[in-house]
Amino acid sequence: MIKIYAPASIGNINVGFDILGASISPIDQSLLGDCVTISHSKEFFLKTTGDFAHELPKDITNNIVWQCWLSFCKKINQKVPVSIILEKNMPIGSGLGSSACSIVATLVALNKLFNNPINQNDLLILMGSLEGVISGTVHYDNVAPCYLGGIQLIINQKKIISQSIPNCNDWFWVITWPGININTAESRSLLPNQYPKETCINHGRYVASFIHASHTMQYNLAANLMKDLIAEPYRSSLIPNFKKIKKEIIQQGSLVCGISGSGPSIFAICSDIDTAKKIEQKIIHNHIIQKNGFVKICKINNIGAQTIG
Ligand code: HSE
Repeated sequence: MIKIYAPASIGNINVGFDILGASISPIDQSLLGDCVTISHSKEFFLKTTGDFAHELPKDITNNIVWQCWLSFCKKINQKVPVSIILEKNMPIGSGLGSSACSIVATLVALNKLFNNPINQNDLLILMGSLEGVISGTVHYDNVAPCYLGGIQLIINQKKIISQSIPNCNDWFWVITWPGININTAESRSLLPNQYPKETCINHGRYVASFIHASHTMQYNLAANLMKDLIAEPYRSSLIPNFKKIKKEIIQQGSLVCGISGSGPSIFAICSDIDTAKKIEQKIIHNHIIQKNGFVKICKINNIGAQTIG
């Protein structure tokens, strides 16, 4: 029996739409992510548990775990019966890489159970294609950090899908999910097909300079460059009070604030724990919309998917 934990992630991190993503874990040691337990069996079996299992499709063939299993069998040219328990701890449509958590945990668990027939790169490609089944387009900015940890830069050239870039160990990432759901495909459909030339130039400048600043460990400069010209202007209206919350978060001393992935979760980067705690309290008191919403103070998870239990 194998149990894999796959952590939550923040797609885009403002500056790199579809090409940058960060793996995160709460500092209180709670597991923010999905877990998959897998064992050999006579026939395929799937059980779902966890706080958000009720949000999953009732028809098992629509469950991404089943689709992961099918894709895995196809890739290794063998139908391997397994028993899977999916612990669905992540809210669906939260912008925290919920589907990536299920995909990554399942494929890593399957691969491990059968002694790694698929190499790391091919497994990541498979993860990306399954993410595409859910969100309509293949984008790796959740599956790559969820699988490999850290901040991942999506390269996607000549079979190099993703590589990690340095990240600031001192930063605290405060994430808040307001308890509402946004469908990724719908959130993507709000974005324009074309952008003005000036936006393209500035976007390129911010991304390139952010990567440069990260590699030269100029982390204050890196934070100043984390600006979202691509998605936030079109998605912010989906998130109740986004502009007000962002203004307050920045006033409290956060270095960066933005939409996590396709929303509605918001992230804020703080250089010290006191600021992170102040922001956490302010959000809890003023902004959690549904009672199952949450705020978590996180650090970058440099490990990614891992065996637990
Ligand atoms: N880069 C993707 C998007 C992430 O913003 O649509 C989805 O979680």
